Amino acid sequence: MAILSRNPRLHSTRRLVEAIRALGHRARVLDTLHCNMVLAREHPTIFYRGEEVGHLDVVIPRIGASITAYGLAVVNQLDMMGVPVLNDAIPIARSRDKLRALQLLSRFGLDIPRTAMCRYRDEVAQVVEHVGGLPCIIKLIQGTQGVGVMIASTMDEVQGMLDTFWDLGQEILLQEFVAESKGCDLRALVIGDRVVAAMRRQARTGEFRSNIHRGGRARSVVLPREYAEAAVKATRVIGLEVAGVDMLESRTGPKIMEVNSSPGFEGLERATKKDIARMYVEHAVELARSRQAGRGAPRARV
Ligand SMILES: Nc1ncnc2c1ncn2[C@@H]1O[C@H](COP(=O)(O)OP(=O)(O)O)[C@@H](O)[C@H]1O
Ligand SMILES: [Mg+2]
Repeated sequence: MAILSRNPRLHSTRRLVEAIRALGHRARVLDTLHCNMVLAREHPTIFYRGEEVGHLDVVIPRIGASITAYGLAVVNQLDMMGVPVLNDAIPIARSRDKLRALQLLSRFGLDIPRTAMCRYRDEVAQVVEHVGGLPCIIKLIQGTQGVGVMIASTMDEVQGMLDTFWDLGQEILLQEFVAESKGCDLRALVIGDRVVAAMRRQARTGEFRSNIHRGGRARSVVLPREYAEAAVKATRVIGLEVAGVDMLESRTGPKIMEVNSSPGFEGLERATKKDIARMYVEHAVELARSRQAGRGAPRARV
């Protein structure tokens, strides 16, 4: 089994390697950016540090947000080689584009914070009304660990932020601020078709973003059924095998903010004391076995 990861010392990567070995399999960490793809008629391959990668039963991709494009190309190359990958390239791409993900989630009946997008300065005030007025959330379409998520309390702030991001060539979303969540959110880890662990994260004082990387504190929770079902459905709608689903607890039930395709699980293992890495690997083994059993060998989807 191989893990695509820039850094073997990252917690989640290290834990996956441990779990693979504990389950009696061989583990290899491939630095995604060192995977040199060679394309030739009917013989797609990857060379890694000078050698052709040998047979791989299954690959677990951990693609950081900063190398999404190269990472997706490597995942696609593995797919062309007939190697099962735990999360395919198209669903990973959908999850990285917050607007696309929200379009799909809402289209398939999941609730999300009201979200809007526009590109003309003089239409911003109207669009803010569409998301419930001020304060409102402003989000970069691609962002992670809370970076790129802001709150604006006045129209001047909204205009200032939009002008800055538009000048930088960034598209942004305007979103309803779900105030009743009070700096809390839920993170559910979905593997296959069930939630294997979940935590409630509370933002530190003076902060509305509950990400662990922004100082949020986490506690293990058992999700109410409505929330667990929403997380599993969101994962399926995006098309992922494994996902970290972020949800707000609103007056009307779960509102899904985003679906992460390479969720780190250090905070979740610490909060829940569960062996998440093992469950991850067991699922990868299952995927490899079902693929070997003949369900669609080289898939080569176009
Ligand atoms: N619409 C919202 N209303 C209230 N809080 C929000 C909203 N959107 C995001 N947040 C807070 O900001 C955090 C980060 O947002 P998220 O969309 O998950 O981006 P990231 O990819 O950076 O984690 C969330 O975990 C939540 O605490
Ligand atoms: Mg998040």
